[in-house]
Amino acid sequence: CGIVGYAGARPALNIVLDGLRRLEYRGYDSAGVAVVTTDPDRSTPAARDLDGELLTAKRAGKLANLEKALQEESTAGLALGTTGIGHTRWATHGGPTDRNAHPHRSADGRVAVIHNGIIENFAKLRAEIESTGIEFASDTDTECAAHLLAIELQSAEGATPGERLAEAMRAVCRRLEGAFTLLAVDVQAPGVVVGARRNSPLVVGRGTGENYLASDVSAFIEHTREAVELGQDQVVLISGDDIVITDFLGNPAEGKTFHIDWDASAAEKGGYDYFMLKEIAEQPHAVAETLLGRLNEHGDLLLDEVRLSDQDLRDVDKVFIVACGTAYHSGMVAKYAIEHWTRIPCEVELASEFRYRDPVLDRSTLVVAISQSGETMDTLMALRHAKEQKARVLAICNTNGSTIPRESDAVLYTHAGPEIAVASTKAFLTQLVACYLVGLHLAQVRGVKYADEVAAVVAQLQEMPKKVEQVLSTMEPIRELARELAEAKSVLFIGRHVSYPVALEGALKLKELAYMHAEGFAAGELKHGPIALIDKGTPVVCVVPSPRGRGVLHDKVVSNIQEVRARGARTIVIAEEGDTAVAPYADHLFYVPVTPTLLAPLVTTVPLQVLACEIAAARGHDVDQPRNLAKSVTVE
Ligand code: G6P
Repeated sequence: CGIVGYAGARPALNIVLDGLRRLEYRGYDSAGVAVVTTDPDRSTPAARDLDGELLTAKRAGKLANLEKALQEESTAGLALGTTGIGHTRWATHGGPTDRNAHPHRSADGRVAVIHNGIIENFAKLRAEIESTGIEFASDTDTECAAHLLAIELQSAEGATPGERLAEAMRAVCRRLEGAFTLLAVDVQAPGVVVGARRNSPLVVGRGTGENYLASDVSAFIEHTREAVELGQDQVVLISGDDIVITDFLGNPAEGKTFHIDWDASAAEKGGYDYFMLKEIAEQPHAVAETLLGRLNEHGDLLLDEVRLSDQDLRDVDKVFIVACGTAYHSGMVAKYAIEHWTRIPCEVELASEFRYRDPVLDRSTLVVAISQSGETMDTLMALRHAKEQKARVLAICNTNGSTIPRESDAVLYTHAGPEIAVASTKAFLTQLVACYLVGLHLAQVRGVKYADEVAAVVAQLQEMPKKVEQVLSTMEPIRELARELAEAKSVLFIGRHVSYPVALEGALKLKELAYMHAEGFAAGELKHGPIALIDKGTPVVCVVPSPRGRGVLHDKVVSNIQEVRARGARTIVIAEEGDTAVAPYADHLFYVPVTPTLLAPLVTTVPLQVLACEIAAARGHDVDQPRNLAKSVTVE
């Protein structure tokens, strides 16, 4: 979910709505706002404290629904208030309806609360609250927090209404289990928003005479680039000129201040129809940025924040990669590269499975957590499990200062810039680059045989932005094909070696965007079952390895293509320039530039991204915000 809060002198409504627009990628099942107004005729501060009104508006569906409702209804009051909170939801407890949309209000109407996360002990709390005669107005876990807050406010102590709200919030947080970011406003504390966080993201934006709270900085970047990151289990009170942070017990605490180094335009569509198309086009730049400054004058590879000694890395005898979704696919590619270069066994695991199967980990295990957002709960929990078992953790992440890098022993940031489209593209390519760098770094530090190759591979990597650019300039035939495939029932993807994860990624993109049945297979596995799926005309996308180097692999895939074709498949072949051997078996043939085998996913993935994007557009879907998904899933 996406969360915004504002306290200052300007009308809050539009600031909150603008913030929500930028956070909508985090969920779009419903949207809502709450604003506290002050009576404009009462000018003394004391009177202002008493004369607020708390107004809310919320709607199921995308933010546009809420905006339409706000235009149709009288919003005079809402437009007046200078304190506000807003929420865009990815549904967990309770379906995506108007009544389950946030904000939720306490029964006495005094407070409004928005929430990201899951309150795990909500059933117990709900029963307890209901036993006092309070009736719930929604099916959400969040509503518990609103009622509890109102109850705590009755006895909360503090010098000002704002302090009393913060005190009540701390008391509530001490009772909640699970993960949450909460924001609350109180009709009796106009001018104040109180926030709390445990395991879900929350940052403060520091303005002049106004302050912000949000799930991520994109919500307030157009107003300020000065941010304060909240720690775990902290409560923050913002007013126009104050930011006060404490822990859940009320002890003063400090947030980490940081400057945001990208501007609002990085999060705009810039002339493209969809963010996804813009982000696909940005890939050469994103890859180049991620490679920038990684080699020092001695040819040593540099990561970003390494709180691990070279000796720690030499002691590593096993690597586990944990990640979800697209990031998991980058991890699968990494396995091939890391094992090849370092000769250390490397396993890749879905983060959501990792800790529950009790993996064998110890001090000499390196766990690499890959996450674009740095907030994915499954990945975070896998990381924490690894740390409990004393393993070292290295994060590959695109979001500065997010939770996953903060809790890791070392970090390598991908410099993809903000990725807004829910389906990941440029983040994936930069994750691949980061994985290669980690593999090379390990090889170098350990001085294994392939350490000599480091400089050569880095040089090859430097060539990749140009090659990705080249691929992007030849996408017209893919777009044409996409229009033809828009009505297909199912599309299969096959590949071997590093092209196997590419096949999985191609299929995932198509599922996410086009809501089509799509599956990726290891090409060699096809004959053991999935080949039965092939019918006359079934589209099969075949990602073919380079015929140079590992020629055996190439020939095996060519045989697999023949096998599917013999059963009626319509073959769509992605192969390396100059590979004429595949031509006779390809119904559609797309060439990518000559690239070393291990690095090939950087070019072969691109046509599959474009294919999925164009098929989805042809089917009339919302490419940037596919149904049921959210970009950053902060629940397990
Ligand atoms: C969500 C998104 C996916 C993404 C995955 C991992 O499920 O819809 O596109 O790959 O999370 O996200 P992360 O931020 O950890 O890379």
